[in-house]
Amino acid sequence: MKRRYILKLSSGLVIGLPACSSSKKKAEAAKKAKGEKAAQASASVKTGANTQYRQPAYVNKGLRNPTMNLPSEFSGATVTHSSGLSGEPYVAMTFDDGPHPRNTPRLLDILRARNIKATFYVIGQNVDRYPGIVRRIVAEGHEIGNHTYTHRKLTALGDSEVGTEMRRTEDAIVRAAGVKPRTMRPPYGALLTRQRGMIFSEFSYPTIMWSVDPNDWKRPGPSVVTSRILSGAHNGAIILAHDLHAPTVDAMPRTFDGLLSRGYQFITVSQLLAQKSQV
Ligand code: NI
Repeated sequence: MKRRYILKLSSGLVIGLPACSSSKKKAEAAKKAKGEKAAQASASVKTGANTQYRQPAYVNKGLRNPTMNLPSEFSGATVTHSSGLSGEPYVAMTFDDGPHPRNTPRLLDILRARNIKATFYVIGQNVDRYPGIVRRIVAEGHEIGNHTYTHRKLTALGDSEVGTEMRRTEDAIVRAAGVKPRTMRPPYGALLTRQRGMIFSEFSYPTIMWSVDPNDWKRPGPSVVTSRILSGAHNGAIILAHDLHAPTVDAMPRTFDGLLSRGYQFITVSQLLAQKSQV
């Protein structure tokens, strides 16, 4: 035992320096092999979500979309649907009251899998809570609309309060994603004609309502939501739904696939307005 100990000690001492450098090389080689193995392993692993949208800040703060007014013909009326171009049936899917921390990302995955674009009427205070989700909505090619900051009934508010609701939401969206919303939808669809004119002259937002309402907020169950949307869909429809509710998101794969199999194409509300002004 004693001899072994000495040998061990002396071997360590004698070949101390060269052993050290060679073992360093060996360690490096092992590390490299390990790294390659890890790289191979990670290449075969599928990642579930793109987490880059959670990065908080974008560089060079400023608008990403140009400031453009929509045609003034939409100032006097609320838009509920477009007459549509014949032979090209299309619908605009709109989702209100988000972003929601779980349901909105799930909906975005469903939309992305089908390469479908939608319009999200977001609540300003939810934008401030979940700015990363708003960034993802914009980055994946969807459109953002203004649905006020606190979701109050605007008909009960004075002009300055209505203005504050709009402004705070617009600012939150610009802070989160660097784009300005182009259209608005009043909570509960409630807006006075006078307020509509005020909002258009101050913010250039046309007021967007809907032509198909599945009443999904009453939670009738995903299959009912799907069948109501499919039976109500028509060329130029604006379809109302809420990404706040899990059963609504559950209904979307069958809803989208049903609309696609009936030949519908999906457009955003701005695209719908552009088409509406042509027909
Ligand atoms: Ni709402």
